[in-house]
Amino acid sequence: MSVLIRLERVSDHDDICNVSRAAFGGSAEAGLVDDLRGGGFVCVSLVAEFDDKVVGYVLFSRVAINTDSGKIDAIALAPMAVLPEYQRQRIGSKLLSVGLVACRAQEHKIVVVLGHPEFYSRFGFSSDLASGLESPFGGGDAWMALELVPGALKNVTGVMEYPAPFGVFT
Ligand SMILES: CC(C)(COP(=O)(O)OP(=O)(O)OC[C@H]1O[C@@H](n2cnc3c(N)ncnc32)[C@H](O)[C@@H]1OP(=O)(O)O)[C@@H](O)C(=O)NCCC(=O)NCCS
Repeated sequence: MSVLIRLERVSDHDDICNVSRAAFGGSAEAGLVDDLRGGGFVCVSLVAEFDDKVVGYVLFSRVAINTDSGKIDAIALAPMAVLPEYQRQRIGSKLLSVGLVACRAQEHKIVVVLGHPEFYSRFGFSSDLASGLESPFGGGDAWMALELVPGALKNVTGVMEYPAPFGVFT
């Protein structure tokens, strides 16, 4: 299967909305994408294209970790989705791999996510790394972090500060 991973274009917005609705079964995540984009919080937004059709997307947005000694910049991976009929064919993995390369290229150091542990652990995300980070969403094992720079989370403890559009999920 030849899937193209590329940067989001304005002409993709409706398709991203449709992928979101189909994958999540509701419109909350599609609204989140629009609001993060509209608020200028997005640093990486990619789509997966197959046969000229958008079949998946991933979004990375700026967040902060509030620590006793100030704020540390981080990136939230959310949301990401693949059309149900295209899932489990490694499209999500390709989106995430390219997305993480793009985050590294922008010199980000920390990525956090709330999601399927089996999927994200393949990319180095772990709940251990997130154990010092207090999330407003809870999550248990599904609350994970990744160091893009080794040691970026060493001795970091603090409370996550998400942009306002995430408020609908708390
Ligand atoms: C999660 C998602 C983006 C992964 O995309 P994908 O193209 O299916 O992923 P890949 O094919 O690269 O990898 C598949 C792996 O992801 C994991 N996975 C996928 N869907 C899963 C689910 N519903 N529950 C648990 N693990 C899941 C499994 O480990 C799976 O491995 P397997 O196929 O060997 O069982 C996609 O399944 C999706 O859109 N799900 C619905 C929306 C969602 O949950 N988004 C993530 C929110 S954080």
